[in-house]
Amino acid sequence: MVTPEINIRRALPEDADLVSHLSTITFEDTFRGTCTDDDLQSFVDYAFTAGGILNELKDEDDLYFIAYCNNIAAGYMRLKEDYKDYPAIKKYKALELKRIYVLKEYQSKKIGAALMAYALQVAEQKNYEVLWLGVWEHNEKAKSFYKKWGFTDTGDTHPFPIGNTPQTDHWMIKFIEKR
Ligand SMILES: CC(C)(COP(=O)(O)OP(=O)(O)OC[C@H]1O[C@@H](n2cnc3c(N)ncnc32)[C@H](O)[C@@H]1OP(=O)(O)O)[C@@H](O)C(=O)NCCC(=O)NCCS
Repeated sequence: MVTPEINIRRALPEDADLVSHLSTITFEDTFRGTCTDDDLQSFVDYAFTAGGILNELKDEDDLYFIAYCNNIAAGYMRLKEDYKDYPAIKKYKALELKRIYVLKEYQSKKIGAALMAYALQVAEQKNYEVLWLGVWEHNEKAKSFYKKWGFTDTGDTHPFPIGNTPQTDHWMIKFIEKR
């Protein structure tokens, strides 16, 4: 089997359409069936517009990265220092992994692993003490992926409604080793 070539780069304002497309497709593929189609549609129409993502890409502190597999955009992630959703984490210099999504047909090919390794490198280079994230309580695949990377469940949860469908996320955390 030929090992796929995985490359990761910072997303730029001119990538807004691509990131909006990746965000919409991967979110729909992940959460379809866990809420009503109307709820899913209203959520992606609100959260992943090219205009909204363009503003985020223009923000120096809002870090989007795109993962390419053999030169095809196959996944993305978003990192940001943002304590508003989880004030308790403020006791650390903390970086949030806001999103990590790989296109369905490219999953389980170590693209998620490449993005996570990159996220940890960014966190270490910027002297963060922890990397943290929220994961839907029933997303077993993602939870096992995060546990494999050394994240632990804090036991803290928060509501993450999709439209009118209530869902609950768990906060997970990983301490950044000081080299
Ligand atoms: C979670 C995700 C980012 C992982 O990226 P990936 O490229 O698929 O994963 P990798 O190939 O790097 O790593 C695979 C690991 O994922 C986990 N995993 C993969 N498929 C799994 C499955 N069906 N069930 C449980 N764990 C699974 C395992 O830990 C696996 O490790 P292993 O290969 O040693 O068994 C990706 O699967 C994805 O985008 N899923 C849908 C979107 C999502 O849930 N994002 C996170 C929201 S919080």
